[in-house]
Amino acid sequence: MDNASATPFDANGRLRHLLTLEGLPRAMIVALLDRADDLRAQSRGGTRPLDLLRGRTVINLFFEPSTRTRTSFDLAAQRLGAQVINFDIASSSTVKGETLLDTVHTLEAMHCDAFVVRHKESGTPEFIAANLRSNAAVLNAGDGNRAHPTQGLLDALTLRRHVADFSRLCVAICGDIRHSRVARSDVHALAALGVREIRLCAPPELAPQASEFPQCRIFHDFDEAIADVDVAIMLRLQKERMQAAAIPSEAEYFQRYGLSAQRLRRAAPDCRVMHPGPINRGVEIASDVADGPQSLILEQVANGVFVRMATLAELLADKA
Ligand code: CP
Repeated sequence: MDNASATPFDANGRLRHLLTLEGLPRAMIVALLDRADDLRAQSRGGTRPLDLLRGRTVINLFFEPSTRTRTSFDLAAQRLGAQVINFDIASSSTVKGETLLDTVHTLEAMHCDAFVVRHKESGTPEFIAANLRSNAAVLNAGDGNRAHPTQGLLDALTLRRHVADFSRLCVAICGDIRHSRVARSDVHALAALGVREIRLCAPPELAPQASEFPQCRIFHDFDEAIADVDVAIMLRLQKERMQAAAIPSEAEYFQRYGLSAQRLRRAAPDCRVMHPGPINRGVEIASDVADGPQSLILEQVANGVFVRMATLAELLADKA
């Protein structure tokens, strides 16, 4: 993507687009998490429709597959009273060669208030935001290996519901860090919220440049990385973003980097287990751990709806 830039804040310092958590002030992250909890209460856990976004139109533009993010943005917008269009890329004129920006400008001409964008190329949501012809907001639903800001927020919200004091927490993020937009957004959220220690663990082939994560300790040995941690966030192997044979075999990967019940016993006794999904059972996480009492995986999914309600409300409610 071009090096276009878009300002995330408007002239009043309000959030204009949600492109990344990098650089977002702690107070703004906390306000979004508080708003998610408020909307959870107001909507009685999502069972009572609200009308905060009545008359608004949200377009989901997903150029990559998604279950959790797309469905939860759809539900979030609908539960706030907005109209939602799930733009179907496969049956759209993009397959006839229409450019990304021509598609966006065409949709803007019909009027919409927000684009929720997922794309395999890093920088696409920012590129769209920088080239809009309307006052629409852009929400990044995951771009390449760069950012997945609502995942970072929902992971922070999930942890906050279990842990009062982040300054005592040691968190390990394990797996394919190099290709992971979730790891990047989680680090931005957790560091902003004052987590004491963030460990990143990956095989050397899937490790990031240390200079990209100056606030983290990098490990290649999972048994070392998981020792005494309070939270283990497991990541999927992003095969769609890696060169063939970047890892030896899934069985060997699980042996060295998979979270088994035996390995989890090396962590703190009440260590929480998280995973953004989709999970690959027996590759990065054992089934009995994914489904076990320490797992927060489905809580993360549930919290995703409230975080997306909060971000849509923040960007669209009370705006002309
Ligand atoms: N965690 C996440 O982004 O999942 P989906 O790809 O299903 O949206």
